[in-house]
Amino acid sequence: MKNVIAGNWKSNKLMAEALRLMKEIESGLTSEISAEVIIAPPAPYLSAFASEAKGVLQIASQQCSATGSGAFTGEFTAAMLGSCGVKWVIIGHSERREGYGETDNVIRKKLRAALDSGLQVLLCCGEPLEVRESETHFDWVQNQLMHALSGLSNSALESIVIAYEPIWAIGTGKTASAGQAQEMHAFIRNWLSICFDRSTARGCRIIYGGSCKPSNADDLFAQPDVNGGLIGGASLNAADFIAIVTALENR
Ligand code: PGA
Repeated sequence: MKNVIAGNWKSNKLMAEALRLMKEIESGLTSEISAEVIIAPPAPYLSAFASEAKGVLQIASQQCSATGSGAFTGEFTAAMLGSCGVKWVIIGHSERREGYGETDNVIRKKLRAALDSGLQVLLCCGEPLEVRESETHFDWVQNQLMHALSGLSNSALESIVIAYEPIWAIGTGKTASAGQAQEMHAFIRNWLSICFDRSTARGCRIIYGGSCKPSNADDLFAQPDVNGGLIGGASLNAADFIAIVTALENR
């Protein structure tokens, strides 16, 4: 199974600066890298990035619409992304759930739209602080995943990477401990083995996101059920992102 590392650039950087960052990252990564390395630049740059990306980098969109084509002003479909050379899409990020009203139902539809168009999906889940404090985080994450994944075939799961991103750790500098990450990832894998089957669960990549940086990447990636990372802030700096990719390669 290949590890996965993805940089989520969110709404940062103008075009020229963003392209420079991609080139810097590219030149710091050798073709021998075994992990899948993905960057998700802002949507207006996706087409240019997909044609400019050389070597190991793959391009992701930070979202897609829940619908097909039609009269949906401002939306872009999963099929459109595919037609631009985009291979991946992030679905269910907490910033979209919380800031743009993406309910479990919307996320379920987006996930299916993406799979139907042949995209691979980085599916995010994770609990807010009050849920962690009330110790109901396992139920919370299970519920999010059940909504998104129920009814899918075992083979559909091969196109999905699950990103566990506790909301209290996103952009806060407060990372989940390696033990907390491992505990949740093992829980998710066990749940997958019940809902799908053991070999599907074993083959599913589960990555961690939330203030992952060069100083904590080694610890996180040393955990047996952590198969990579979804990196926000630290992916906006080429040296930091490359250091995190290197930590994953050396795990
Ligand atoms: P962060 O963001 O690394 O800046 O915490 C992670 C994410 O939102 O995917």
